[in-house]
Amino acid sequence: MRRTPAVASLLLLLAVSSVAANGDGNQGDSAGAARNNGYGGGGDAPAGSNGYGGGGGPEVSYTEPAYRKAVDGLDYGYYSESCPKMEEIVGKAVRKAVGADYTLAASIMRLFFHDFAVGGVDGSVLIDVPGHSEKYAEASRTLRGFDVIESIKTELEAACHATVSCADILAAAARDAAAAVGVPYWSLKYGRRDGKESSAEAADRYVPMGGESIGELVGFFQSNGLNVQDLVVLSGAHTIGRATCGAVTKPPGLCGRRRAGTLDRQFGDFLRRKCGAGGDREYVELDGETPTAFDNQYYRNLMRGRGLLDTDQKLLADPMTGGFVKTFANAPSQFFVHQFAQSMRRLGEVQLLTGKEGEVRRKCSAVNY
Ligand code: HEM
Repeated sequence: MRRTPAVASLLLLLAVSSVAANGDGNQGDSAGAARNNGYGGGGDAPAGSNGYGGGGGPEVSYTEPAYRKAVDGLDYGYYSESCPKMEEIVGKAVRKAVGADYTLAASIMRLFFHDFAVGGVDGSVLIDVPGHSEKYAEASRTLRGFDVIESIKTELEAACHATVSCADILAAAARDAAAAVGVPYWSLKYGRRDGKESSAEAADRYVPMGGESIGELVGFFQSNGLNVQDLVVLSGAHTIGRATCGAVTKPPGLCGRRRAGTLDRQFGDFLRRKCGAGGDREYVELDGETPTAFDNQYYRNLMRGRGLLDTDQKLLADPMTGGFVKTFANAPSQFFVHQFAQSMRRLGEVQLLTGKEGEVRRKCSAVNY
């Protein structure tokens, strides 16, 4: 790609935000971290006016919505004395799991998002009470990766008993899963505590499943301390992984999308052939063009009417989100990937239990008794 002055300045910003994403020079308090990340300053935010053809897109300076601040805060060095090998143990286990089954990278990232969606990252999605806990919600039907997290917990219990929360393990595992597929590594603060409650009914009420309007998704993100930009950036996780035909054909369905003029004809024909019978046995790649690459192809697909889920495709048409989609589609992949790291870190830092709240579970699948 020819480097226009706008591209050059964007790449410079990327270099700066890359440093922030890696945590270098970003070890201060959360306000400092927020400034370094460009939150509030808009330094690393995509903007419709930044020369990337997002014409009419949002003029961005990152606005941090209200959220439940951590009581005792989080700390980069939280386990440096109590469990110094925590990150090494998690990282090794995740790399091994993803090395053996690449699809687990997507599944672990999704597990992290579903945990966040119900009361922040507190490990509640990991609790296993058949028929009752989040794991048994309709929204959780195709979640995977529970075993990876539980086996890391077992290893950590052996290394440092009753110290590392399942919520922190999940946050670190999602970061390491993302890193395993090429997302820049970001340093994490720890000190999340595990929740004691987990409800399938709550998961089905809160976890977005693809039938929502963009207004509902924006509302959901904002009520959880994230903004419109985070919504578009994090939806880019759908550049890897897969969805069941049931998710693809749910209302408005392929006919509805074609009528609305938001479905590429050829892609629609492909989906009709593949998912004719619908259901959960058949899977389709969320990004059919580069299904295993963590890149901006997801946004490029949306520009051609080739978004797999209705909620994905609607991001382009909606005036709140469309400018971001265009920006990410037209900028080098690297731009999106760096933003993704930033938003993932934020996902794990809002609405948390800390200090004396909750507990540190002994097993991730069960609350302590
Ligand atoms: C914004 C609203 C979102 C909606 C409506 C949504 C919806 C969905 C749906 C319906 C599936 C397919 C499930 C199935 O049929 O098996 C899926 C898969 C996936 N989602 Fe999302 N999602 C959203 C946001 C996110 C976020 C924020 C992340 C991660 C940060 C994420 C990561 C993934 C991944 C990686 C997969 C593939 C999982 C796999 O291959 O195992 N999603 N999502």
